[in-house]
Amino acid sequence: MDETTAANPDVDVMTIDGPSGSGKGTISRLVAARLGWHYLDSGALYRAVAVAAGWSSLDLSDVAALVRCTHATEVGFRDSAEGEPRVLVNGIDATDELRTETAGAAASAIAAIPEVRSALTERQRAFRQPPGLVADGRDMGTVIFPQAAHKVFLTASAEERAERRYKQLKDKGVSVTIGGLLQEIVARDARDANRAVAPLRPAPDAVVIDTTGLAVEVVVARVLELVSGPHR
Ligand code: DC
Repeated sequence: MDETTAANPDVDVMTIDGPSGSGKGTISRLVAARLGWHYLDSGALYRAVAVAAGWSSLDLSDVAALVRCTHATEVGFRDSAEGEPRVLVNGIDATDELRTETAGAAASAIAAIPEVRSALTERQRAFRQPPGLVADGRDMGTVIFPQAAHKVFLTASAEERAERRYKQLKDKGVSVTIGGLLQEIVARDARDANRAVAPLRPAPDAVVIDTTGLAVEVVVARVLELVSGPHR
């Protein structure tokens, strides 16, 4: 379905795409909160399908089974009492499992399958609800919301992204090395950027922001300026 015929074509959309560790998740959540808009974490959908496929011991090369699994997997988002976003997969809180490197790598692998991507397309577009939507992912500005009025592509050096991820995981008590994370990030970027369908790349009309060395607040302010000018 063309985006113009999709639900709520008049509702404002801001797309925030970029590689893993570029700060997309943090920035997108803050921007959505400041604007009072809805937030779509599209990566969580791919991770949820990957985790559900793992629960059913599906072979990641069995495309037909993965497509059935994509259609059958229910994904719910809700805030915990502490305001932390939680993700429910088939009714089970799978937030911590979703955030693991294993789930990320499996999500990246299944995300290269065109039928899995198209099975998730309308589900993502359904998040476009008033008063607006901030959509975070890899192909939000290129494929899912190509006519979005505001498009951002965040980047950061692979080293800085590995370091950010290292800090996040260390805070959670997960034992990893920066070198190992860097290798995983470079491998995942290559897979996401080189796949045939919806590869990771900025939309031609996206504003590219390199977040290396920038404080979160600085990036948030720059992104908000795109919606309402520098005086917001
Ligand atoms: O943003 P993330 O790290 O949670 O995403 C996990 C994987 O899902 C990522 O490596 C590629 C895939 N993905 C995608 O292909 N398209 C999206 N819009 C979001 C994520």
